Parts: sequence; structure tokens; C-alpha cells
Amino acid sequence: MLRSHTCGELRLSHVGQRVALCGWVDTYRDHSGVLFVDLRDRYGKTQVVFAPESGPETLQAAKSLRSEFVVRVHGKVAPRPEGTVNAKLGTGEIEVRAERLEILNKSLNPPFQPTGKELPGEDLRLKYRYVDLRRPEMQRTFILRHRMIKLMRDYFDALGFLEVETPMLGRSTPEGARDYLVPSRVQPGTFYALPQSPQLYKQILMVAGYDRYLQVARCFRDEDLRADRQPEFTQLDLEMSFITADDIIGIIDGLVAGLARQILGLEVPVPLPRMTYDEAMERFGHDAPDLRFGMELIDVTDLAAQAEFRVFRGTVAEGGRVRGVNAKGAADRYSRKGIDELTQYIVEGFGAKGLAWFKVEADGRLASPIAKNFSADLLAKIAARMDAAPGDLLLLVADRFEVTCKALYALRKRFGAELRLYDPAVMNFSWVVEFPMFAYDPDQHGWTAMHHPFTAPRPQDRELLRSEPGKCRAQAYDLVINGSEAGGGTIRIHQQELQQEVFGLLGIDAATAQERFGFLLDALQYGAPPHGGIALGIDRMVMLFAGLDSIRDCIAFPKTQRATDLMTGAPGAVDSKQMRELGIICQNPRNRP
Ligand code: AMO
Ligand code: AMP
Repeated sequence: MLRSHTCGELRLSHVGQRVALCGWVDTYRDHSGVLFVDLRDRYGKTQVVFAPESGPETLQAAKSLRSEFVVRVHGKVAPRPEGTVNAKLGTGEIEVRAERLEILNKSLNPPFQPTGKELPGEDLRLKYRYVDLRRPEMQRTFILRHRMIKLMRDYFDALGFLEVETPMLGRSTPEGARDYLVPSRVQPGTFYALPQSPQLYKQILMVAGYDRYLQVARCFRDEDLRADRQPEFTQLDLEMSFITADDIIGIIDGLVAGLARQILGLEVPVPLPRMTYDEAMERFGHDAPDLRFGMELIDVTDLAAQAEFRVFRGTVAEGGRVRGVNAKGAADRYSRKGIDELTQYIVEGFGAKGLAWFKVEADGRLASPIAKNFSADLLAKIAARMDAAPGDLLLLVADRFEVTCKALYALRKRFGAELRLYDPAVMNFSWVVEFPMFAYDPDQHGWTAMHHPFTAPRPQDRELLRSEPGKCRAQAYDLVINGSEAGGGTIRIHQQELQQEVFGLLGIDAATAQERFGFLLDALQYGAPPHGGIALGIDRMVMLFAGLDSIRDCIAFPKTQRATDLMTGAPGAVDSKQMRELGIICQNPRNRP
């Protein structure tokens, strides 16, 4: 090996030893003929001193060093002189007195310093990702990611799970996003779809008797990207046979508690709390509620019905709801202009028609431009229902239930951050269970699967499939961390007839079902055991455990919001010859001649 130690390794106990270090030049300072160079690798930094004793040749070579040069230094470990010890650095008590220097490679002046104080713009970081990945913060994240995946694999290995790889080139699996397609050269005009998840393969592995399957699986979804979504991401994917939803939840509880203990040093009591989907929508307006703080949604529909205020009365008469939140102590935080801004936020972003508000005065009375439309008695009842205290800001939205959910969820989320309602170091884990089987899609005039079409209804809701599909609840469960959906799964349909019935409800006729999912329908007829599973979003979990805001910081080579890779330039043009071989003619040719 070219080095005897890493740049993070040397301590006082090594003093007197001759060592060889390799690394990147982090900083260099010239103190009247004595050069101090911080040498960096992913383990740390070591101060190397080039002095006249190093010899004229070595000293001369050291003077040519620049940022990010890659070097090998031979020298002797010495204690740092009194007063120059750096307590912040692991190697801060020693330095290496250089005796020989080899420049292994030069570097162009880097676009930014990996250990610089200021973080450059993200585009520059993505273009020069190899420089960005040298940053100690990035290295910490990827070490964390490695440890989390290792712990996951070990945990499931101990429980008898088998890791089985499934194809990248396959048939489309409906997870609700657009597919990435790969054209076939051998069968022109046909396409593989990259997996949106290994869903159908893992179910078929259950039919095949591999009753505990696990995979660290790549998934591909062509969807609108956000801070917590990438077109290509990684799941911890698992499936089990002869189990119930409780069994799967219990196994993941154990995993989460283990990760929290070993990664964060937190004791998380299990079983993790569970809430039904309906309760989550009532109390928080969302199926992945952030339980790190209160500010639950409060329903005042019955009181609103008695008000003169036309907006309220009218909404209730049409079957809508009037709900709100109490932003405790926030009356002074938000001026009229501030409230106008909140109104605009939920009207333009979340489809609300307006935002009614009351400030609670010192005597407990509610003040608002709309207060005149309410009797004193009614205002007092609203105040009591909303637990109003002087200085509070009460905000109400009157609308269809779904709109009140969206708007108030958005407001609550904003207040959580703006009013600092939670400690960012706290982690909150919970489950949301019993999702509806279907959501109504007004554009398609029909039902769509809330999770995916292979999800089993609760046994007691089997009849509702025929009578009232909208009321039918699934054996489904989502893991929620700090208000983010970290994972989701279901018990599956394992009888062919039921699967066909659900396809029918989703508007997939028998011929289409046969064409797209015939292999699954066939497999279900060859001894399919009862089974179910879950997939955890590994990138999201790393993001949450590392306390980061962007999923791009947890993926070594991520894509931009426009799904491009700024380092390699993907997606890129291809040769015309390749296109001809694939039998593809492009409408907007960007391909090379
Ligand atoms: P689902 O679609 O809910 O379920 O995905 C599971 C988890 O994967 C993560 N995830 C993503 N992470 C980053 N970028 C994305 N674009 C993205 N999309 C999803 C989320 C999500 O909770 N086959 C089913 C699982 C099952 O039923 O067993 C599935 O894929 O954290
Ligand atoms: P308007 O009667 O439209 O002038 O609205 C009077 C006040 O009621 C304004 O502050 C609006 O923001 C608010 N408002 C209007 N529609 C709604 C609604 N659907 N829910 C809550 N507040 C509303």
C-alpha cells in the first residue's frame, strides 16, 4: 500500500514513527519558509510540515503544491509545539515532519473548496460531483447510508429473509407514475419498462415459495420531481407469506427501533403508534401527518351553520365543512398583510376560497373583520371549541372536506416550521393504516387504486367492493417519519377471482388485464399463498435520519428537478445508427448523425 496510515489516524502514541500518508492538499500556508499543508482524505486531516530540515528538493516541491493536488508524504510523527494543538481535530495533537514528497497528481484549480465555508450553488456541486463528494458532510451522509443499509440487511438476514434480485428490463408495474421505457432491438416496436418497483416479481416469488423475500431494489418513476422524489431511487423491498398486516408492521417496528438506537442513539418505544387514515385526515388533513407537534385541525361545522356569515352557512348547507387551526400565541406574528399572504398561499396553492381569521384579544374576545356576522354567544362557542387564549390566532377554512384537508395541512405545516413548533432533533415514527382501497378520479370518471391494484380489502369490507367501493378499506399501512411517507405496503390479493374483480372496478377489462397482467393472474392459480409486504424508501429514510432537506444530498449521483445528470449530461443524444437499429424515428431529432 502507498500509505501506512490514513489522514485521520495519527495520535500522540504514534510520535517518533516514520509514516507515509496519501491524500489531497486541503490548505497550505507559507510561514516564512516553513510550509504547513493540511492533507485530507475521507478519514480526516493531518498537518504536514515542510521545513528546511526536509531538504531543499522536498521544500521546493512542496512550494508547487496547490489545492486538491494528490500527494504522498513520507515523514516522522512529532508532537505539535505548545500552543498550536488543535482540539477540534482528531489528529490535532500531532503533525508530520515531511522528509519526502511525491506529487501523485496535480489538480486544476477546483471550482470550489471541498472544505470551504460557503457552499456553492447546487448546479456547480452536481456538475463537479467528485469535488462535492469530497466534502466531509457528504462523506458523513454516505457512511450513514452504508450503515443503514447494512443494518437493514443484517436485521432481515437474522429473520431468515433471502435477498433475491429481480429484473430491470421487464413489464410495466402500475405504481401510479409514468414508465421509463427501453426499446427492444430484437423485437422492433416493443419496449421493456424499467420497474417502478419489484411489486409483481416479489408476489410471484411468494407463489414460488420464497416466503421471506428482501431486496435493496432500484426503482424508476417518470414523475414530477420534488425535494423528496427522484426519478431513480432505492427501496428496501420485502414480501412475506402466511402473515397479517400486524406481523409486517411488527417486523418494521423492530427495524425502525434498531435503526434509531444504532444510528441516532434514540430509544424508540415499540409498537409504534398507529392511526387510521380517516383519523389522520380528520385530525391533520393528511395521510402522512407530522406528529412532532400539536395544532390539530378543529371542526366547527355545527357552529358555523348557525352564523350569519354567508360563506360559512352556505358551505355547510352544501355539505361542506368548516375547520381550522389555532396558531397559539401567533396573533402578533401575523399582521393583516401577513394574513393576506397566508390567504394567498392556500387559495393559489391549495384551492381554498378564502381564509377566515380571528385574533383573540386580552379579554378573550374574538376580533376580526367578519366578527360582526357572528353573535357574541356563537363567537364564545367557537373560542371555546378552539381552545382560544389571549394572543392566539384562529384560522378557518370553509369548503369541501378535501379542500379543508389540503389547505389546513399546508397551513399547519407552514406554522410548524415558521413558529418552530418542534425540535428538529426529535424523530417521530408512526403508522397510518386502513387506507381506502380506491380514490375517485373525476377526470377518468372512475376509481383508481389508492396504493396499487394488487392490494387486498379488509375481509369485513369484501361486500363493499360491490355496493360502495368508496367506503371499502384496504389492508394497507404507511410508515410515517416526521410527516414524510417513508414506506408503504399492503396485504395482497392472492385469489385470482378477487384480483379480477378489483381490476374490473379499476376499469381494466378482462382482455387488458390478461394482456398486461396475465402472468400474475396465471400465477395466482398455481398455489398462491396469502402474502403481503412493504417497501421503505431508503433515500428518504437516509434524508430523515441525517436531518437533511433534500433527497439529492443522500444520492451519490442524483438528477436535477428536470431529471438530468449535470455531471454526465444524461439524458443525451445517441447515434443515428443506434436509432435505426431500434427502428425508432424521432420527432425532435437530437441524435448524432
Ligand atoms: P410506494 O409506491 O408507496 O410502494 O413506494 C414505497 C416508498 O418508496 C419511496 N418512494 C420514493 N422515494 C424517492 N423518490 C421517489 N420518486 C419515490 N417514490 C416512492 C417512498 C415510498 O413510501 N410496491 C409498493 C410497495 C409494496 O406495496 O410493498 C411501492 O412501491 O418512501
Ligand atoms: P368575502 O365575503 O369573500 O369578502 O370574504 C370575507 C372573508 O372571509 C375574507 O377574509 C375571506 O378570506 C374569507 N373567506 C371567504 N371564503 C372563505 C372560505 N371558503 N373559507 C374561509 N374563509 C373564507
